[in-house]
Amino acid sequence: SSTATKDADGVLHVGGMSLPDLVANVNTPAYVLDEDDFRARARDFKEAFAGADVYYASKAFLCTTVARWIAEEGLSLDVCSDTELTVALNGGVEPERIGYHGNNKSAMELRRAVTLGVGRIVVDSFDEIDRIAAICSETGLPARVMIRVTAGVEAHTHEFIATAHEDQKFGFSIATGAAYEAAQRLLGTKGVDLLGLHSHIGSQIFDTSGFEVAARRVLALHARVAAELGHTMPEMDLGGGFGIGYTAQDDPKTPGELAAGMREIVVHECRALGIDEPRLSIEPGRAIVGPSMCTVYTVGTVKQVELDGGAVRTYVSVDGGMSDNIRPALYDADYSCTLASRRSEAPPVLARVVGKHCESGDIVVKDEFLPGDIQPGDLIAVPATGAYGRSMASNYNHALRPPVVAVRDGHARVIVRRETVEDLLGTDMGVV
Ligand code: LLP
Repeated sequence: SSTATKDADGVLHVGGMSLPDLVANVNTPAYVLDEDDFRARARDFKEAFAGADVYYASKAFLCTTVARWIAEEGLSLDVCSDTELTVALNGGVEPERIGYHGNNKSAMELRRAVTLGVGRIVVDSFDEIDRIAAICSETGLPARVMIRVTAGVEAHTHEFIATAHEDQKFGFSIATGAAYEAAQRLLGTKGVDLLGLHSHIGSQIFDTSGFEVAARRVLALHARVAAELGHTMPEMDLGGGFGIGYTAQDDPKTPGELAAGMREIVVHECRALGIDEPRLSIEPGRAIVGPSMCTVYTVGTVKQVELDGGAVRTYVSVDGGMSDNIRPALYDADYSCTLASRRSEAPPVLARVVGKHCESGDIVVKDEFLPGDIQPGDLIAVPATGAYGRSMASNYNHALRPPVVAVRDGHARVIVRRETVEDLLGTDMGVV
């Protein structure tokens, strides 16, 4: 994260707090969240997208404290489950500032969202339209909705996190006319207020041309709904997915660059279509929380493994792994890392940092140069683990999920505590 610095002894400090000091209290592995950095990123998006709405995609990472920061910074927040909704409300996010996503929201979840007056429900199927219609007629309450559309864009990212091509589960296709039909159905449903179209093309995207193509297609449908169905939708959403730097190779765009690019295309297309510009919204998750967190591990074992051809790879095992960061195993994601607890003048060796789980794919950092004297007891920090780290953590091998420690001005505060054996075995009904 941006306030991370090493002192003369090679000790890494985040938010003015030395990681060895922090770890002395909370142990490892631990996620360390730099509060100022998180708030600054949230604010950067809000300022760059002034005149638009920024929804923090809470699936990237959510806890009550973070929901509170989002509310304090004046952003909106996107949820995709009933429990995420509860946490958002607990953090003081106003229901009107909440967006609700999901391709299979239950009738119970939808009823709660409508009853609370959630700002927008992003509708994803005809079944859901039926459910919302029933809830509106039953409760007499209005439902504010957007239509999740599939813009048919090939986002250049990992297949599992690309969402706008046609053959996947999300949204209504623009190309086949399903999205238009959804608009027709919603406009014929009493109590429904159709706010706009919503497109999310994928995640960890650097090439922004995908957003431009999506915006063009969304606005063309937007104009068609206005012309043929007589309803001018006040909003549009272009989703999240903005890439961040995990390694030195990545070259992320700033919020300012993203905002300028999106504005330009929206203004241009609306002019060409002869329509008023709808209010824009976006949903960054990773780009806000990703870089503001790192994970600290303790080295447990160091092993030299001879490769074909005689080269040697140093395997450094740490006290976590795929249970606290599934992304390398799931997406072949690259991370970097650094020795965080001391200075070393030892010549660097090519190392692979691995976890302690029973799988060879349990990789933390695939390739990194670490000092050749790396040894048990050293601390290693992996930057940019804030997004989809803790939120996709598991209890594989009965691992206890690590705490999240917020640091600021040299102070540390546990905002999510470490799981305990009692937490974990509490669900095991065979324990006597
Ligand atoms: N909006 C919608 C509708 C989404 O589905 C997502 C992510 C976002 C916004 C936020 O995307 P972001 O700005 O964080 O990239 N677990 C994967 C990524 C899947 C994201 C799913 N949806 C990962 O670890 O890379």
